[in-house]
Amino acid sequence: MTAPLVLGIESSCDETGVGVVRGHELLADAIASSVDEHARFGGVVPEVASRAHLEALVPAAHRALSAAGVSLGQVDAIAVTAGPGLAGALLVGVSAAKAYALALGKPLYGVNHLAAHIAVDQLEHGPLPVPSVALLVSGGHSSLLLVRDLAGGVTPLGSTIDDAAGEAYDKVARLLGLPFPGGPPIDKAARDGDPAFVAFPRGKYRDGTADFSFSGLKTAVARWIEARQACGLAVPVADVAASFQEAVADVLTRKAVDACRAHGVDHLVISGGVAANSRLRALAALRCEKAGIRLRVPRPGLCTDNGAMVAALGADLVAAGVPPSPAGFAADSGLPVTRVHVS
Ligand code: KG4
Ligand code: ZN
Repeated sequence: MTAPLVLGIESSCDETGVGVVRGHELLADAIASSVDEHARFGGVVPEVASRAHLEALVPAAHRALSAAGVSLGQVDAIAVTAGPGLAGALLVGVSAAKAYALALGKPLYGVNHLAAHIAVDQLEHGPLPVPSVALLVSGGHSSLLLVRDLAGGVTPLGSTIDDAAGEAYDKVARLLGLPFPGGPPIDKAARDGDPAFVAFPRGKYRDGTADFSFSGLKTAVARWIEARQACGLAVPVADVAASFQEAVADVLTRKAVDACRAHGVDHLVISGGVAANSRLRALAALRCEKAGIRLRVPRPGLCTDNGAMVAALGADLVAAGVPPSPAGFAADSGLPVTRVHVS
């Protein structure tokens, strides 16, 4: 049997993504972003994002199909992000996916955005070895998960008790006068900075849990900048960016390696928007090598939100013989990470 041809639709936040895969082979990945429309507000404005999805979705689907060299009629199944995410934004993707599925008579899978972030790595590095530990770090989530069978479900090991890692990047960027979203400009500024310039706190560093905390770090950066400005001194943006980034990468990689050790797992996959971070990737590579752990991180373009990741998870579900989601399923902005697809 040839691998299933799956069309994946992503609209949970500010990227409209449509991807086409055949099994674990990436055929096309069309993305339209409304990020520029949100930049002046310093965060994603849900209504603006929903409207942008409405305008971008069908053209993105056409671009993806044409780049993949396939027609809608050839698609075996459709997958769409059912949650978690912004309710109105999710609704646009779910409605479009339902319309395509109904018109074409194809099975439809409502999938979990977080599990899709993990699944996407297979498009680059082949089937995910199990068990694996997954470090999922995005704008809305930071979790460590045990993956025994991605299509069958994941086991949460720990997560952030306050801010997500990406959220910390976005907030610290704002403090430093850098644009939104904050990850890429901090990553860039940090290249010219000294990561040991400020010893920022590492929340929950060796507390024996797989949980994270980034809110204290963000506050520490804010207080440090305020103190500096109160003395009439300029803020060394590159040094603060590098020191902040070091604290985030240090705690994420330490906890990920510890989770692998605690569960006797020797494969770690890192995914989500923050996985695009250069320091996180480098430090993870270093620490995994020392610990004898095989590290998998998708290329940066596949770490941030895209449609290919949704298609990749859809292809896994089809291959595992999982039944499609019921036709009347709803988008669920709070879909828990344990629900890999909507059944
Ligand atoms: O996974 P994603 O695209 O969307 C969500 O599901 O949230 O992640 C977006 C987050 C943003 O907070 C952004 O600042 C962060 O990923 N990000 C990065 C980098 N690129 C994106 N954080 C650190 N370094 C980067 N290079
Ligand atoms: Zn995401």
